[in-house]
Amino acid sequence: MRNYFIAGNWKMNTTLPKAEQLAAQIVQGVEELQPLPQVRIGIFPPFISLAGVHTVSTNTRVEVGAQNCSNELSGAFTGEISVDMLQSVGCTAVLIGHSERRTIYKESNEFIASKVQRVLASSVLTPVLCIGETLSQRQNNQTWDVLRNQIDDVYSTLEKKDAERIIIAYEPVWAIGTGIAATPEEAQEAHSFIRNHCSRFLGVAAQDAMLLYGGSVTAENAQSLLSQPDINGALIGGASLKAEAFLRIIATANALSQ
Ligand code: PGA
Repeated sequence: MRNYFIAGNWKMNTTLPKAEQLAAQIVQGVEELQPLPQVRIGIFPPFISLAGVHTVSTNTRVEVGAQNCSNELSGAFTGEISVDMLQSVGCTAVLIGHSERRTIYKESNEFIASKVQRVLASSVLTPVLCIGETLSQRQNNQTWDVLRNQIDDVYSTLEKKDAERIIIAYEPVWAIGTGIAATPEEAQEAHSFIRNHCSRFLGVAAQDAMLLYGGSVTAENAQSLLSQPDINGALIGGASLKAEAFLRIIATANALSQ
């Protein structure tokens, strides 16, 4: 039996009616599929659709998560969304440090660590910490250093019992939205490195850490990626916007989870 987490990152796509419609299609497909309990499913719509999507998915196997959150508790932070707000609309998870946040919005490892701390202070939300190297970092043989720093700068600020609650999404930047996924061997190599490195903080609990792969996951390549020993799920962008493709990936994980 293997645990999986299949997560759909909708990014800045879907208006509220479209988000509710897509969520309803996914909910219906999941109800028909009846995945095993060890397959966790999450969709991450834009903030504005969280409450609506949660209404559609209440009392189903489909969890709702956010794509970002503030590192602050509350107060004068115009335009920000707090952990409490996310909890109040039924979120159970939140992406932190997605490469688009790191690259476009210049979020540093330190800033990302402060968000993870804030999320972990809530007992309800699971942080999905996104890490990954750029193409030039990979070409310059810096991949392991980059991943090590991205992990250390967050985990070194946490107590072990809290760090154990983190889900990591390994998303090589060169694979995101490019249609060029890491090969299963490349992904497995990175996941094995990450698990091994996390054991410095987690000890044997690193064996149970949920490590998702992200970057051009499709219904077609899901089987080869998800069958790798250190890959516990997927964070899916483009293919999660099509109910049929997303449901096929869930079905693949379900078959592999038995
Ligand atoms: P992609 O995006 O599946 O479209 O490559 C993945 C992500 O950014 O989480």
